[in-house]
Amino acid sequence: MDYATFLRRVPKVELHCHFEGTVRAATVVDLARRHGIALPTEDVESLYDYDTIEGFLTIFGLVASTLIDREDFARVAFESLEDGQKLGNLKHREMFFNPTLHTRRGVPYGTVVDGLVDGIREAERQLGVSCRLIADVYRQDTPDEALAMVESVLAHRPDEVIGLGMDGAEAPDPPERFAAAFARAKAGGLRLTSHACEDAPPQNIVTCLDLLGCERIDHGYHILADENVVKRALDDGLYFTCCPTATARVYGWPDLSRHPIGGMVAAGLNVTLNSDDPTMFHTDIGKEFVDLCTALNYGPEQVRAFCLNSVDGSWLDASEKARLRAHMDAELKRMQSELVA
Ligand code: ADE
Ligand code: ZN
Repeated sequence: MDYATFLRRVPKVELHCHFEGTVRAATVVDLARRHGIALPTEDVESLYDYDTIEGFLTIFGLVASTLIDREDFARVAFESLEDGQKLGNLKHREMFFNPTLHTRRGVPYGTVVDGLVDGIREAERQLGVSCRLIADVYRQDTPDEALAMVESVLAHRPDEVIGLGMDGAEAPDPPERFAAAFARAKAGGLRLTSHACEDAPPQNIVTCLDLLGCERIDHGYHILADENVVKRALDDGLYFTCCPTATARVYGWPDLSRHPIGGMVAAGLNVTLNSDDPTMFHTDIGKEFVDLCTALNYGPEQVRAFCLNSVDGSWLDASEKARLRAHMDAELKRMQSELVA
């Protein structure tokens, strides 16, 4: 087996992937036609073209607006997991979704979450890929909107919904705005994570940990600017969910060999690799492994560490985690031996 095939096929768990950023181009066009929604272009190659986070978020909202019926959410959730399995041997994903992006357009929260769960359960049945859901606070919402969103999540909660996260543009809207929403989620039994230090200083990581109670950090690239925060992350065994391609595009690290992920790995942090918004950044979880590991000359041992970090940093319960880890460990060993041979 050649190395690129190995990178693509090693078994993967993904902890940072936005449902709305996984819609296939052809599906966006199909849903937009069906619901009479005008797209700026049906050439989705150019629709999915941006170089700032704000430009990206505008199209992200547009793509979300093509999802209306429960069946739409189910179809996209299924297709999204099917792509992960086909393109990257995905075994399990903890997937973000943005409730307010849908509810503010008049789509009831129950329609969103029930549709997602339909698609996830079908994917588990047909493909054997598992998925859990993390509702994301959208930072550009008000604190009251975020709190109301958390209340809806807690009021209608299938087992698949396990956590609260936070996304949107980080620099203008710091995490402390959403302390009440995170406190309510924690009291209601949700696990907590947040995008942080993607586009803002390391202090945002500290705020997410100490004020919001986050257990993982999504991104974290500017952490190396503060050695105290690095030490804290090492001492806590904190997991980072990093996304090479998306951030190369919108945060200006086009050369992956110079992406801060390399420095984070060298500092000994628990880094995981993820696709963020795969279709919207013309990537997939397999390609993320191929591109980053090639650019940084990572060998099989580092690849194995990325794969197992994601299992260890996941929010599966202890027995599910042990079962998945053993399965992935065996598959990794077998593939590593085929690589050497
Ligand atoms: N929404 C979807 N992907 C995102 C990202 N990488 N950062 C902030 N908000 C997002
Ligand atoms: Zn993200």
